Amino acid sequence: MTSFLRERKSVREFKAVDVKNQLLDDIEDYLRLLETEDGSGDFRFVFYKDGKRLFDGLNGIGGYSGVMIQSPHYVALEIMNSQDKSIINGAYFMEKLITKLNSMGLDTCWVSIGDVNHGEKVKLFDNLLGNINYLLAFGHRKPRNPFEEVPFSNRIGLDEFVYMDESGKKATLEDLENRGLDDLFYYLRYAPSSFNRQPWRFLLKKEKVALIMECIGDKDSNLIDAGVIMYYFEELGKAIGINSKWELANSRQNIEDREYRIIGEIVL
Ligand SMILES: Cc1cc2nc3c(=O)[nH]c(=O)nc-3n(C[C@H](O)[C@H](O)[C@H](O)COP(=O)(O)O)c2cc1C
Repeated sequence: MTSFLRERKSVREFKAVDVKNQLLDDIEDYLRLLETEDGSGDFRFVFYKDGKRLFDGLNGIGGYSGVMIQSPHYVALEIMNSQDKSIINGAYFMEKLITKLNSMGLDTCWVSIGDVNHGEKVKLFDNLLGNINYLLAFGHRKPRNPFEEVPFSNRIGLDEFVYMDESGKKATLEDLENRGLDDLFYYLRYAPSSFNRQPWRFLLKKEKVALIMECIGDKDSNLIDAGVIMYYFEELGKAIGINSKWELANSRQNIEDREYRIIGEIVL
C-alpha cells in the first residue's frame, strides 16, 4: 500500500484497446462484491463496458472545465439518496475498486461530472435512479514519451495537516514519530483528491484521530475526498496494527478561527 500510494497517479490518456473480456467479467463480479460488502444500498456501481457512447455524450461537458477523459471503459458511482454517509461510503468503495484495478495492471482516473445537467444525465445513463456526479475512467495507459516531463501533483507538507489540539498547534514530525504515525501520514498525502485540493486535516486525540474538513468549497466533493482518505487511512493503518474502522460524525470544531466539520473518528 505504501509503494502503491507513492507511485500512484491519475492517468488521463488511455490506449484505445479494450481490456480483455475475462478481466471485464472479473471486474463486474468485483463491483457486485463491493456493493454486497457495503450492504447499505446507498450507492451502486454502474459498469459501462463500452465507454464510447458515454464519452461522446460527455465530451466537452464532463471532467474539469469540460475536458472529458477518454477511456475504453467507465464505472459510474450512483448515489441513491442525499445522505452524506452515502457519498462518503461510495467514494470509499470506489477507491477500493481503484486499488483492485491497479493490482490487475489497469490505470484509472476519477472524472467529475457534477456540472452536467440532470436531463443530460438521464439521457446518457440507463435507468438513472440516484445521482451520478463521478465516474471512474479506466484502461491501459498510453506509453509515456520518455522525453516528456512526468506531470507531478504537489502535496502538502507532513507538518501542515495534522493538529495536536484545538488551539491550532500543528503536529511536528517528532510528534508523529512518537505516536508511531509518521509513515501513515507521510503516505496518506498521496491520496487523490478533487482538483488536488487535499482538503483533509486531522486532529490527534489521546486514543483517536478525527478527520476534519474546512467548511469551504462544495460539500459533495469534500465528502468524496473524505471517503477516499478514510479508505487509505484504514489500509495504511492495518500495516501498523490499527485495525479499527472509521465511525462517522457530524459536528463542528473551530481551530484557529476556522470552522471545520468533524467527518469521523477512528480509534488508534
Ligand atoms: C473526486 C475526484 C474527482 C476528480 N475529477 C477529475 C476530473 O474530472 N478530471 C481530471 O483530470 N482529474 C480528476 N481527478 C484527479 C485529481 O485531479 C488528481 O487525483 C489530483 O490532481 C492528484 O493527482 P494524482 O492523482 O496524479 O496524484 C479527480 C480526483 C478525485 C478524487
